Formats: sequence, structure tokens, C-alpha cells
Amino acid sequence: MLVLHTVQDVISWRNENIDRRTQTSGFVPTMGCLHDGHLSLIRKSRLENNFTIVSIFVNPSQFAPSEDLDKYPRTLQADLALLEKAGVDLCFVPNAAEMYPQGIPLEVEAQKGPFVTVIGVSEQLEGRTRPNFFRGVATIVTKLLNVVLSTHAYFGQKDFQQFTVLKVMAEELFMNTKLKMMPIVRDADGLALSSRNRYLCQESRHLSTAVYQALQMAAACLQNLDTNEEVQRSDLVDKILQHWVPHVTSGDFEVDYVSVADPRTLMELESVSGSTAVVISCAVFVKDRENSSTVVRLIDNILLNQ
Ligand code: PAJ
Repeated sequence: MLVLHTVQDVISWRNENIDRRTQTSGFVPTMGCLHDGHLSLIRKSRLENNFTIVSIFVNPSQFAPSEDLDKYPRTLQADLALLEKAGVDLCFVPNAAEMYPQGIPLEVEAQKGPFVTVIGVSEQLEGRTRPNFFRGVATIVTKLLNVVLSTHAYFGQKDFQQFTVLKVMAEELFMNTKLKMMPIVRDADGLALSSRNRYLCQESRHLSTAVYQALQMAAACLQNLDTNEEVQRSDLVDKILQHWVPHVTSGDFEVDYVSVADPRTLMELESVSGSTAVVISCAVFVKDRENSSTVVRLIDNILLNQ
């Protein structure tokens, strides 16, 4: 596997090795600290394409000043070993100056240069708590796609809104890459794999399984409906919140949001039938039991009838 650090080197490699008229290439952008969720995207890309390119870049423009940019886990050597084993052709590992030549101060007001904003689907859910997050994601994915020019790019359903934002962006900006979404990879106990799970001690990590359990209960409720029967959004949300009451009372959880939305627009649905396309999603702050200054924001979702 080749590891390159500059935009120019990737462009040269691409021009020499890939003939876009006859060969396909799959791209998997990541922030590193790779786990089986990332690897599932890579496996799919390998199955479907002549070449697979991965990027590892902890993108500063998608972090708010209060977030964990400095602390975000960086495990480059282990990541490269995993990618090599997975049969990746090229890993692009740029630094911040390479991707943002005008610099990237954390304060949005001080940032200079071109940015990509997807108005609409960026604003709800994650966008409410993390107002500049999708601007950072859309910008870096645009830059990376312009460098690798892959025919396909792979993303996880784990970040369903991220995929929705990027798909709208790629389609409406007439980008020449087909974006694909792959299912959420979970641990045996149901917790969605995430690079940030490692911040949690064993006990808090175990409590976090309640996040997915609650979503599953709401999904089961929809799946058990008779034809023509409907459930109100508020009843589904209450069911989920009810499941977390002990954890909220004990101070382990603080709920950020619970959403029952149309998967295309991410607008909340008032009522849902057993056959309505729906994404049930949530974000929960989990306070670590061993280190009370560590708070991990977990997100998860279930997609039905898509
Ligand atoms: P990162 O969190 O490293 O995730 C990279 C990709 O892996 C994303 O598409 C994400 O949805 C997917 N992924 C993460 N956990 C997963 C899981 N448990 N199952 C399936 N897929 C999973 O998402 C980002 O990085 C960044 O925002 C990025 C797109 C790279 C832009 O900086």
C-alpha cells in the first residue's frame, strides 16, 4: 500500500494509475482510529472497484472550539497496518496546511477560504447542537473528492445525516462520484462502533448499550403495527426517553435529541405507520463514571422501510 501526504502526489499517482474511462475507484474518507465500521466500507469498496483509496485526516473545520480536536484518538501506525492488511491501494494522510492552505483557526469567524454549505438538511438534529459541523464535513469531503476523483465513495449509516448532507451536496453540485451508504456495524451488545467509544470506562461503556436498546424498542413498536394503524411521534419519543430515565436520573445520560423523521428531508414526522419510511435517531451525552470530566456524545439510528 502506498502512503502519500500531499495533494500533488495523489493527483500524480491517480493520473498514472487509474483510467477513469475504464476503471472504477472507491474512496473511503476517515478520521482514523479505524475499527470494523470503517473496514466494512473498505471491504465493500474493494469488492466493487478496481482501486480503493482511504484518507486519514482529523478535519479541524468540523470541530467546534469546545470539542475534542486535540484529544481525538490518533493511531496512525495501527491504522496503516489495518489498511495494508485490508488490501487498500493508496492511503492519503495530509496535514492541515495541505488541506487548508489559508490556515484553519477553530473560530469560524476567523477562517478564510472556500467552504461548502448545504442549507436545509444540515440544520436539524446534529446541526442544531453542532452548528458548523456539516460545513466542515461538506468542505473537506469536497476537497478530498476533488483530489482523488473516485468513481464511488463509501459512508456509514452510523452518521446518517452526514450521508444525507453529502448526497445532496454531490448530486446538486453535479459531482462525478456516486455516494453509497453501508449499514451500521455494532459490537455484540448492540453499541454502534465509534472511535470515541474508547473514551468510556468499561462500566459507562456497558450502560451505553441502552442507547440502541431504546431505539430498537421504538422500531419494534412500528414493526408490530397492523396495516392502517399509526403511532404518534410523541408516543415513540416517550417510549425511548422512558427507557433512559434511570440513566438520566443517575446522571449517566443527558439526552441531546430524539428524532422520528423522514429519511429524505430529515423533517420530523407527526405520525408513522408500519410502512412509512422513517429514521429514528438520537444523540446522548454519556458522562464517564471513572472520569467525570469526560463526556462522550453518542449518536445512533435505525432506518425503517427505506
Ligand atoms: P469517521 O468518524 O472516521 O468515519 C468515517 C466513515 O466511517 C463515515 O462514513 C462513518 O459513517 C463510517 N462509520 C463510523 N462508524 C461506523 C460504524 N459503526 N458502522 C459503519 N460505518 C461507520 O465521519 C467521519 O469520519 C468524518 O466526518 C469524515 C466523513 C471523514 C469527514 O471528515
